[in-house]
Parts: sequence; structure tokens; C-alpha cells
Amino acid sequence: MEGVGFVVGGVNRLARRGDRGVLRCSRGHEVGSRRRVVVADAEAGAAQVKTEKDVVVNGLPADAAQDVVLTDGPKLLARPEPVAQARSEVVHVAGDSDPSLMDSMHKRLDAMKKQPVSIIVVGASGDLAKKKTFPAIFSLFYHDLLPEDFVVYGYARSKMSQEEFRELIMSTLTCRVIDGRKCSEKMDEFLPRCHYVSGKYDVSSDFSALSKELAMFESSNEVSNRLFYLAVPPSVFQKAASNINLAGRSPKGYTRVVVEKPFGKDSESYRELRAGLSSILSEEETYRIDHYLGKELVQNLMSLRFANSIFEPIWNRNYIQSVQLVFKENFGVEGRAGYFDGVGIIRDIMQNHLLQVLALVAMEPPVSLHAEDIRNEKVKLLRSMEKLSKDSFVIGQYEGKGEGQPGYRADEGVAPRSKTPTFAACVLNIRNQRWEGVPFMMKAGKALDERKAEIRIVFKPAAGSIFSVPNTIKNNELVIKIQPDESIYMRIANKVPGLTSRMEEGRLNMFYREAWEESKDIPDAYERLILDVLNGEKSLFIRDDELEVAWDIFSDAIHELEEDPNVEPESYKYGTRGPVGADHLAARHGSRWSEL
Ligand code: BG6
Repeated sequence: MEGVGFVVGGVNRLARRGDRGVLRCSRGHEVGSRRRVVVADAEAGAAQVKTEKDVVVNGLPADAAQDVVLTDGPKLLARPEPVAQARSEVVHVAGDSDPSLMDSMHKRLDAMKKQPVSIIVVGASGDLAKKKTFPAIFSLFYHDLLPEDFVVYGYARSKMSQEEFRELIMSTLTCRVIDGRKCSEKMDEFLPRCHYVSGKYDVSSDFSALSKELAMFESSNEVSNRLFYLAVPPSVFQKAASNINLAGRSPKGYTRVVVEKPFGKDSESYRELRAGLSSILSEEETYRIDHYLGKELVQNLMSLRFANSIFEPIWNRNYIQSVQLVFKENFGVEGRAGYFDGVGIIRDIMQNHLLQVLALVAMEPPVSLHAEDIRNEKVKLLRSMEKLSKDSFVIGQYEGKGEGQPGYRADEGVAPRSKTPTFAACVLNIRNQRWEGVPFMMKAGKALDERKAEIRIVFKPAAGSIFSVPNTIKNNELVIKIQPDESIYMRIANKVPGLTSRMEEGRLNMFYREAWEESKDIPDAYERLILDVLNGEKSLFIRDDELEVAWDIFSDAIHELEEDPNVEPESYKYGTRGPVGADHLAARHGSRWSEL
């Protein structure tokens, strides 16, 4: 084990880089054991503790990090914490890079399963909770991946009896296990652990009432953790977080809070939100979800790039002509216009999902799989990107086509003359040695001709080729299809077999469903992410500074597009490829959108 994190101090104190001392384990099978440590890193609000050699031999599993109390030795740096309340700072992810990684993951999972937890879904009657959160929690339970001792609490304004709440959960569990052999048996075990409390998001006494209920479940446990999942609209986000801080914290375990976008509307509002939240929740307690990071093929990006030797030498401006990141949906905003009209496709998809994917495609190799190492590389990459302006974009809005394909403005909740883009394409530039001059092309749209999300690495054509190769395959392409039908394939020029020298496209193809037995049952992104929250694993969550740079890239362009009265989104028909302006944009950068 290369690096282990520990609770350091906890109350108004942070360790300093280079501090040495002794840690005593306060719980678990190694109670009382002592180990010498040296603090390797101590950045804003968090300290990472690196074990010395003797510690490595008997290293605790990563989860035990929370059980270790600093006893003596290090000179602790007194520094006021933003949160006035006493609590532990949990810092860590093991930085294992050797074969014991799996072993350490298992140990970590085992340790997690022994820690009782209350999972509280705030906004339990909303769409997100019903469609994503509850199904993911149930699926984790189905696969025995939740702690042995857990309860699920729904919290929302609507009045509901326990039975009604359980019915709501049952009716929404359209998860991948619904046809599983033991599904109804498991459901019968799951539902009695689900409870509902009705309350307002801005009334702290309502959160106190919830806390009292939780305390009843927790009373017989020495330790009990609380995981709050905030599935609420942005307007009540801060109030809910503030009341969790005031009245909802676990008195005897961790408090972790999962939050979903939108995290503000631009750089300025994000900074305000960040300032407001940081006085309520610490960075360590906050888990900012971008569910694209939980998708199987997005998770595989780092393995593809860094666990194979063949890609790295050509993963740069010398070989790559362009990188294309595409998100398409073949349905409109139907029913979600209330949210979408104030947001638009740039904020909804590009600034977060596609930019996160781009960062993983383009960043430098991280030092380890430690969450901070990965996120440091992402931030570095994002900081090397040029800010966008309105000229970097083409925007569009869909109009109706026929029965069942209404135009955007016909949707209830959309302003009659709304200019909100439902489609956008843009070109991003990275100013570093690896990528200077390579266009990173992004395209995202609703109500298009198909549903897919993919990454295309388009290589330069072969130099001095003696073959007559059709234009469509002059550029090799590595395609990483995130969804649907996960696959990775390489488009190459190939001689047609037989008595001919004709060249056509051939594919080196890894279609996941055929290549991997396991891929018949790929977990939903939310399952992976909720499991990671329980494990305290943050590499798939967005750090606050990362989000700030992400906003800085898009913020000016969004303002220019929204404030310039001459900017009109180009219309496109529901179910088509989107505005033709996107093709012109690509052509201006010496490229074209690859569709094959
Ligand atoms: C959400 C967006 O974040 O992602 C939606 O708000 C979009 O507008 C959705 O439909 C797409 O997610 P997925 O997992 O279906 O590709």
C-alpha cells in the first residue's frame, strides 16, 4: 500500500506537510496498534498521510482510515476551519498500483459493509430520485454491496404514508435487476428498511425531526454514518445543505453529501455557490456527481490509455488530427422544459459531461490512481484550455416535424420566443505541448436523428501513401462508443479479400456485449457512484477547483451568446442531424464530423 489517509485532528487543526508522528488505531481488529506516519501533503482543508515503511507492512485497509486518531507527535498547524462544527476530516484513497489493488478493494468493501449507514434521499418524490437514485440503491442492495446494517430515508415536502412511499419505490424500480431471479425476494427484504419523513427544505426543525428518526435506528450502533443524497432543485439546494449542517449531521460517524448539477449558471454564480457551501460542508464531505464519470467506457478511458503501451506514443499532435466528442439524443426536452429552458444544452451537457470526458482523454498520466492525483491532472489540463467565445460556437434549436415530434417552443414551460439552444457545437483548443493545434470538437443536441455518446480520435492520414484509399477512411479513427451498445473500435484501411487490390474500411472491433460476459449486466453509472460515496472514493467526483476552471472555459461564451440580440439559434427539424452550421464549423477547422 503506497498511501493511506487518516483522520487528522478533526477539530480546527490540520497537519502540515512533513509532520511526523504516531497514529493509534481506535477501532476494528487492530485497536490500539500504533504506527509511525509522515504527512505527505496538506492542501486546503485536507491532509494526506503517507505511511513510513514499517506501516506499509501492516497497513490498514483504506477504510480504516476513518478509525485512526492522531495521538501524539506531529506539531499540528492551528488553522480555523470554515466549518465551526467539530468533525473528522476523512482523507484518502489508497494509491495502490500493484496486484494487491483488488485485494485492497475487497478489504475496503468488507470494511465498508460493516459500517452502519443511513442513506437519506432529500427530494425523494422528484424525478431524479425516482428514476436514478432509488433504483441504484436497490441494485446495490440486490448485489450485496450495501452495508449489512442500513436504512433508506426519503425526505420531501409531499405528505406520504410509509406504505405510499414504499409503493413509490417499488413502482420506480426499473433497474437492471428487475428480471433477476431473486428480485421480488430481495424487494421484500429491502422495502421494510425504507422510511419516509415529510418536511420542508428550508426549515431546520423539520431536519431535526428527521435526525431524531435516524437516531432511533442508530441508537444501538457505536458508529453510524449518514449519506445525504440531494436530489433537489438548485433553488433549495443551499438551504437543504445548510439544514443538514445545522440539524442533520451524524453525531457518531461520517456525514457525506452528494450533490448534482447544476452547480451555478456561470463562473460568478458558481463562485458564490461555492463560497456559500464551503462554510457549510467541507470539500471532503461533498461529492459532486457527474454521472458520465460513472459510465463504464468513461471509466475505462484511463485503462485504455495508460495500461496499454501502444496508444501513448501516438496520443499527441504529431499523430492526431482532431478529437470529437459527441452527445446526441433522439428525443426532445419533453416534460423537462421547466428546468431546461433556463439552462440550455451548453450548461446541461457540454460544460460538464463532455468536458469531463475530454479531460480524461487529454490529460497527462496521473502519478497514481489516487483521487487527488487524477483530479490534479484534470485541473492542469483544463487550465491549459483556451476560454471559449461566442465565435467558437454554432447553436441550434429544434422545431416540430410531425405527430409526436413537437418543436421545442411548443413544450409547456418554454417561453414562446425562447432562444435557449437545444443543440450546440464548438471547437476547443488546448495550449500545451501535447495538443497545441489539435481541434477538440464537441457536439451535443436533443431531438436529433439518433441517441449516442461517443469519442472519436481521428488520426492524420498516412504520409506518402502508395494506395488508393477512399476519402472516408484516409484517417484512421479510434472510436470509443460510450452508449448505447458500448464498444471500442478502430477504423482502418484494408485490402478487400480476393483477386483485387481495392481498399475499403475494415474494423478492429471490440463490441462489449460480445467480448465481455460481464457487459450483459453493466451497472448504471449511479450504482458505481453511490458505491464510491459509501467507500469514500472520490476519483469519479468533481473537485471544487475543477468545476471553477470548467466554468471559466465556458462562462464568457455563454454570456455573449445569451446577451447578444443578434444571436439566433439555427433551427433544425426534430429527428435530423442538427444545424448545417455545425458542418461549416468543422470545415473551418479543417475537419468534418465523422459519423461512421
Ligand atoms: C443529464 C441531462 O445530465 O444527462 C439530461 O440533464 C440528459 O438532459 C442526461 O438527458 C443524459 O444522460 P444519459 O445517461 O441518458 O446519457
